[in-house]
Amino acid sequence: MSDTTMPDAAMPNAAMPDTAMIVAHDISTLTATVARWRAEGLSIGLVPTMGALHEGHLTLVEAALARCDRVIASIFVNPIQFDNQDDLAKYPRTADEDAEHLRKAGAHALFMPDATVMYPAGFATTVHVKGVSSELCGAFRPGHFDGVATVVTKLLLISRADRAFFGEKDFQQLQIIRRVVADLNIPVDIVGCPIKRESDMLAMSSRNRRLSPEARRIAARLPALMRAAVESFRQGDEESSARLRAALGAEGFDPVEYATFRQEADLAPALDASTPCRLFVAAWLDGVRLIDNMPVA
Ligand code: PAF
Repeated sequence: MSDTTMPDAAMPNAAMPDTAMIVAHDISTLTATVARWRAEGLSIGLVPTMGALHEGHLTLVEAALARCDRVIASIFVNPIQFDNQDDLAKYPRTADEDAEHLRKAGAHALFMPDATVMYPAGFATTVHVKGVSSELCGAFRPGHFDGVATVVTKLLLISRADRAFFGEKDFQQLQIIRRVVADLNIPVDIVGCPIKRESDMLAMSSRNRRLSPEARRIAARLPALMRAAVESFRQGDEESSARLRAALGAEGFDPVEYATFRQEADLAPALDASTPCRLFVAAWLDGVRLIDNMPVA
């Protein structure tokens, strides 16, 4: 199937309601749609996702709708950014629900290619960002950011978006994408959107649904412990991240991959709060890898 339009369920016989969303499974369908919009002088926003959508993704769509005439969301579980095949296999796939959420949120198009569309036989190019890709998550997930940089470069070029929207939860990913766009002169504005949190402050993530109820309760301690560490770092406590690491271990996070203060610009270690910096954490709980970050503002 190359192209589908999802009409509003409440208006089954309408010719083409305002809420119709184009669903493109191949590149030519999407580029034809984009060419039409461009010819009409409309601006285009892109929200790349891997599906399993939650409210955090929908706030990206909302941000894109506020700043662009037409919004494309993409759903593609990108195999080349998974360093662990088990993680790829377990990644939740909820395409029908996701499409319905996007349609209700007001997305104009959904690009949902499969792996052979994105990586046809003979595909041989990798986008690699030196330095920043090997920090933090890069040190624990070999090749992950090459996979992200490669797929996002493709999505930006296919969609010809004026703006692309990414959550700050994956702050390192956001900085890597900014580097790619600057270095390769891709004509797009990269817009970072604040982390969306649950009512108990746990950062929203598609992985949270894999936590047992008990682990979910423990996970909610993460932002509170991070907040306390940020506060003590701000007051000049040099042991703040070491203390956080120990506190997370005591709560049952195992292993704690990193708990560290880094400069926002290049993710180099931050020794104090004199320049814009953030606390970054990656830790496992109940077999689920959780990440979060908080600004030291
Ligand atoms: O953040 C994600 O969901 C993915 O890394 C992205 C940006 C969609 C690339 O596959």
